Amino acid sequence: MRPKAELHCHIEGAVAPELARAQAEKYGVDLTGVLDGEGYVWRDFTGFLACYDRVAGLFRSEEDYALLAETYLTGLAEAGAIYSEIIVSPDHGARVGLGPNAYLAGLAAGIGAARDRTGIEGRMLVTGIRHLGAEAVVAAARFAATRPHPLVTGFNLAGEERFGRVADYARAFDIARDAGLGLTIHAGELCGAASVRDALDHVRPARISHGVRAIEDAALVERLADEGVVLECCPGSNIALGVFPSFAGHPLRALHDRGVKVTLNSDDPPFFHTSLAREYAVAAEEMGFSRGDIDGMTRTAIEAAFVEPSVKARLLSSL
Ligand code: HPA
Ligand code: ZN
Repeated sequence: MRPKAELHCHIEGAVAPELARAQAEKYGVDLTGVLDGEGYVWRDFTGFLACYDRVAGLFRSEEDYALLAETYLTGLAEAGAIYSEIIVSPDHGARVGLGPNAYLAGLAAGIGAARDRTGIEGRMLVTGIRHLGAEAVVAAARFAATRPHPLVTGFNLAGEERFGRVADYARAFDIARDAGLGLTIHAGELCGAASVRDALDHVRPARISHGVRAIEDAALVERLADEGVVLECCPGSNIALGVFPSFAGHPLRALHDRGVKVTLNSDDPPFFHTSLAREYAVAAEEMGFSRGDIDGMTRTAIEAAFVEPSVKARLLSSL
C-alpha cells in the first residue's frame, strides 16, 4: 500500500456509526434523527453542524475521547496513513463538562495508543468555532497559545463560514501565531473566493482548510500558487454538501494543474460517506490523477505538516 497522510479531519466528525451506537447505548441516548440505517441524518450544512454536535455529545469523558482517537487513527493507519492531524474542539469538550486539559489528555492518550499499535504519527490542531463569535475563538486561541500539550501544534477556525467576517477573527490568529502554532482556517468552502483572499490578508495562514472556491478568481489562484499556500482539499465533503455537483466538476484538478499545492483529506468522513482511502481512490479513478500526482500530494501534506522537523524528516524519508 502506498503511504497516505491527512491534514484535515475533525475528530468529532470521524465517529464511525458503530462507535456512535455503542456510545449511545452507554449513555442511554436515543439516536432517532441523528443516525439511521443509511448513516448520519442531515440535509444541508446547518443540519450537518447540528447532527455533528449531537454526535459529539456522545463523548463525555477522557476515556471516551481516547477511544475515539485510537479507533479513528488505528483504522486510518490500516488504510495506509503514516501521519494525521486531527482538528480538536475544546468547546465541544466543555459542552459535556469536560475541561480542556482532560479533553486533550484523552485525545492524546488515543493518539499514543494508535501510534504504539501501528506507528501512525498524530498531532492536534485546536479549533475555534466561528459561529460562537470572536470572543469564544480568542479564548480557544489563548488556550492553544499556552501550548497545553506537546501534540497540539496548530490552530484552525471551523464552524459556520457564513457567520461574521474573517477580520473579526484576526486577533485570535495573532495570539496563535505569536505562540508559534501553525495556522490554517476554513475558507472558500461555503463562501466564495473573497473569503480565501480575506483569509490570506487577515490571517496569513500556511494552509487553508478547503479554499477550493478560490477557483472562482484566476488572480487569486495565481496568488495561492505564488505564495505556496497549501489547500487541504476534501472533494468528497464538497460533493456531499453540494459545493460542487460532481467529482468531474471539482476544481482539484484545475488548482493542481495551475501550480497550487493541494492535499487530500476526509473532513468528517462518515458524515460525508467517505474516508481518506476513498479520497485517494476517487482522485485516481474519477479525477484522473496519476500515481505520481497522488504521491506528490502525500509529500505536500507531510511538507506542510505542523510537526517537528525531526519527525517531518523521518516521515519524508519513508515516502
Ligand atoms: N466544516 C466546517 N466546520 C466544521 C466542519 C466542516 O466540515 N466539521 C465540523 N465543523
Ligand atoms: Zn473541515
